[in-house]
Amino acid sequence: MKIAVLVSGSGTNLQTLIEQLHQDETSGIEIAVVISDRRKAYALTRAKRASIPTHVVKTQDFKNRVDFDTEISRLIEHYAVELVVLAGFMKLFQPPFVRKYQNRIINVHPALLPAFPGAHPVADTLAYGVKIAGVTVHFVDEGVDSGPIIAQAAVPVLDTDDAESLHNRIQVEEHKLYPEVIKWYAQGRLKVEGRKVIVQ
Ligand code: GAR
Repeated sequence: MKIAVLVSGSGTNLQTLIEQLHQDETSGIEIAVVISDRRKAYALTRAKRASIPTHVVKTQDFKNRVDFDTEISRLIEHYAVELVVLAGFMKLFQPPFVRKYQNRIINVHPALLPAFPGAHPVADTLAYGVKIAGVTVHFVDEGVDSGPIIAQAAVPVLDTDDAESLHNRIQVEEHKLYPEVIKWYAQGRLKVEGRKVIVQ
């Protein structure tokens, strides 16, 4: 199964997907393309090192966000991608794009949704004072971090945590959970029933 990985930043999740899926022939999963909305994203270097095609698609280069989405859609079709994997991609898609790829876009979010959606989930988690943080992998719908939840893992919050230390421990769980969920998808084991995702 061919996937596209969309990134904006450092790309530690991408690195895990390269090592655990793309470079493991038994996975049957190929990262056909990595797309970044930021030219300087370190994730692009990781992709190039693994000889994966990369594209930079910047919102500033398009007259509106629908055109930005259309360019990403063009790349997805060009590379014959079945699943769109958001890995630290910090842009939201417009409804037509989300509808076109319904149940074919997944995201990893560093919080236990529906708590702490949005752009600063780890800082929001700490500021609220919850004792259990975590990671969520979910399908993308038209809302912000609101799509059907596929899998979650919990991470205890320590009294000594700052945003960086907590995010680092959450990322350890992300790096285990995300490749696993993508394998489930490739094996046809995910069944979406309304808001519920059954892992068969
Ligand atoms: C990850 O922790 C991911 O969960 C988060 O960005 C980080 C990217 O790290 N995504 C979001 O906050 C999406 N709302 P990475 O570039 O090292 O994979």
